[in-house]
Amino acid sequence: MQITPQKRARISQHLLTWYRKNKRDLPWRQTSDPYRILLSEFMLQQTQVDTVIPYYHRFLDRFPTVHDLANASQDDVLKAWEGLGYYSRARNLYKAAHSISTDFGGNVPDTYNELKSLPGFGPYTTAAVLSIAYGRDYAVLDGNVIRVLTRLFNIRDDVTQTRTKNHLWDLAQQLLPKGDAGDYNQAVMELGATICTPRSPKCSACPVASLCAAKKAGIPEILPIKTKKKPRPHHTMSAGIV
Ligand code: ADE
Repeated sequence: MQITPQKRARISQHLLTWYRKNKRDLPWRQTSDPYRILLSEFMLQQTQVDTVIPYYHRFLDRFPTVHDLANASQDDVLKAWEGLGYYSRARNLYKAAHSISTDFGGNVPDTYNELKSLPGFGPYTTAAVLSIAYGRDYAVLDGNVIRVLTRLFNIRDDVTQTRTKNHLWDLAQQLLPKGDAGDYNQAVMELGATICTPRSPKCSACPVASLCAAKKAGIPEILPIKTKKKPRPHHTMSAGIV
């Protein structure tokens, strides 16, 4: 889908203005330290903002720099993570800290390929850290962003399909206002988390409601469409040896 430059600019400007006025005051939004931003993105991968905040503060008290983290024992790191769950995140973070500390002199890499090569960095986390910490023009796509985009453009395709995901990545990248990637990515995340929610979206408070195709069609809640995987067929068989 190609969007006109005018529509693109209207969407991104409305979102940026709304975000800068209404953003939640979150601890990782008060720093430009790439290590702190990276830590927040690891913690937020599968955990809600409210749960993450106290862990984020405690973790940084314990490991204030990437070198402190790299020089700790894995047991200490897992202890600081205890209760957040999905412990592979903590193990990957620890391995990534080692690499940043030894291979990159303590500087979080600022290129896509270097960052993405570190443990635990998929396309989402790589784009989030590059845009928020370094202002690099990479769009993010996660569940919140998928919900916002499928509704804005009334995309009825199954978002579990790779083809649809690729289309959404392309759309997210087209919409990204160059030079404002960090704020813009966080604006879309914020809209998905607070306004464009899965059930009962608060369209009356939405800065892009007038541009939203799903709202116009009256069906924002049904999007995104995710077809459930068919259960694998189960056959009972018996065999005998003669
Ligand atoms: N979820 C993932 N990254 C986030 C961020 N930077 N701010 C708020 N929620 C997020």
